Amino acid sequence: MKFFIDTADLDEIREAHDLGVLDGVTTNPSLMKKSGVKDFHGHIRKICELVEGDVSAEITATTYDEMMTEAHAVAAIHEQVVVKVPLILDGIKAIKTLSGEGIRTNCTLCFSATQALIAAKAGATYISPFVGRLDDISTDGMELLRQIVHIYATYGYETEVLAASIRHPMHVLQAAEMGADVATIPLDVIKKLLKHPLTDSGLAKFLSDWESLQAEIAAEANEAG
Ligand code: E4P
Repeated sequence: MKFFIDTADLDEIREAHDLGVLDGVTTNPSLMKKSGVKDFHGHIRKICELVEGDVSAEITATTYDEMMTEAHAVAAIHEQVVVKVPLILDGIKAIKTLSGEGIRTNCTLCFSATQALIAAKAGATYISPFVGRLDDISTDGMELLRQIVHIYATYGYETEVLAASIRHPMHVLQAAEMGADVATIPLDVIKKLLKHPLTDSGLAKFLSDWESLQAEIAAEANEAG
């Protein structure tokens, strides 16, 4: 399973990258706003230089011709860029054309399995079902993920399932159990994945026992000498 970090914040990306388990980055216009990004292309280039994997950069046009122009410009920023395209009618047309041109796409804002089916048929590289946002409106986001994984496996679609809008470690665990190819995860959730109170208390006990053993050895050596 690939781990992407869901942020435009360079410090967060650096921190996740330093952990050694990062496979890529996803951004969106809201994350760009949150990080106060003024130079979009320059910022995406910086992210690509920080990490080795795919970097999703979202276009904001909503009509086919404008989407294609923007997608070409974004794809030209860096070879690691994956063009993030919203799952609307013109977006699907753009994904189909971009796929034919060999430009990789991340089809975003997916909230239904039929949307995911069309994105795969259009040749999207990734489909991004937003599990957390569905949970937010009392709909089971994980059930959507299960449906998409099942449909793609049934027909052998190559589109990778990218679990997005991840809110907590259980989302990551369930996405892994269902066979999602990727999870894009905020930094605080990545950190929570490796935490366990029994690990912390177990380590504290090992270290204190080791310290008292060393004290006993030193005391015995003192007595003997
Ligand atoms: C990722 O590609 C999405 O843009 C992101 O996961 C959305 O997450 P949110 O629902 O927390 O904004």
